[in-house]
Amino acid sequence: MITRKSPTELEKMRKSGLLVYQVLKELTDMVQEGVTTHELEVAAERMIRDAGARPAFKGYFVQAAGARYPFVLCTSINHEIIHGMPSTRRVLKKGDIVKIDTGVELNGYFGDSAVTVPVGEVSGSLRKLLEVTQESLEMAIGEARLGKRLFDICGTVEAHVTSNGFSVVREFVGHGIGTRLHEEPQIPNYVDRQNENPRLKEGMVLAIEPMVCAGKPECKVMPDRWTAVTSDGECAAHFEHVVAITADGPWVLTRP
Ligand code: MF3
Ligand code: CO
Repeated sequence: MITRKSPTELEKMRKSGLLVYQVLKELTDMVQEGVTTHELEVAAERMIRDAGARPAFKGYFVQAAGARYPFVLCTSINHEIIHGMPSTRRVLKKGDIVKIDTGVELNGYFGDSAVTVPVGEVSGSLRKLLEVTQESLEMAIGEARLGKRLFDICGTVEAHVTSNGFSVVREFVGHGIGTRLHEEPQIPNYVDRQNENPRLKEGMVLAIEPMVCAGKPECKVMPDRWTAVTSDGECAAHFEHVVAITADGPWVLTRP
């Protein structure tokens, strides 16, 4: 069942969303050559706890890994798609791209957002990858309105990504969000005709998160059981926002 949130609940989700936005903004400003992903982790945990919130990823049980995720952030570099783990040994270099994904729980409601940040100057092909991924998210957000269905969101991401020569990851998907980090429905970045295609209704809240590969869509999970990487070693990008369906159109909760 897809839960629908009341206006009061949406106001709470807005607070969670804005906290995630603030955290990602500060982390984005920290990104530069020489910074470790551990430093980002430490800063994120402090900001979240100072705000009276709880880091939603830390201790979150993920079925596929058969374990609880140990960190506040996922920090995935270059060919790492998602679930890269912060480390004192991972030093950002010029020309890298780093995906930073985090979630919070504040007053019982969750927020979740991700960005891909270039480290210094990156190649033109990487800039294009980031641009197309971000555009696909914006276009999908535009579909998050009354009168549309779930497949309109999924198909919009897929069409924009593939028409630009990139590919979408199939193993990981977006999701509903609310009093839990992951709620129904699943939101693949492609149209999966095996799935249901519900109408979008007022009060639904969706975490839309295109994960886009520069090369082939195949991915594998590293022996650490978490880090998902592209099989061909090409780079991947990831952006995520939480969007509420309202009578006035899409309301992006994870940005001002
Ligand atoms: N990145 C996932 C999402 O955006 C959630 C993280 S799972 C965790 O939905 F293991 F990192 F917690
Ligand atoms: Co998410």
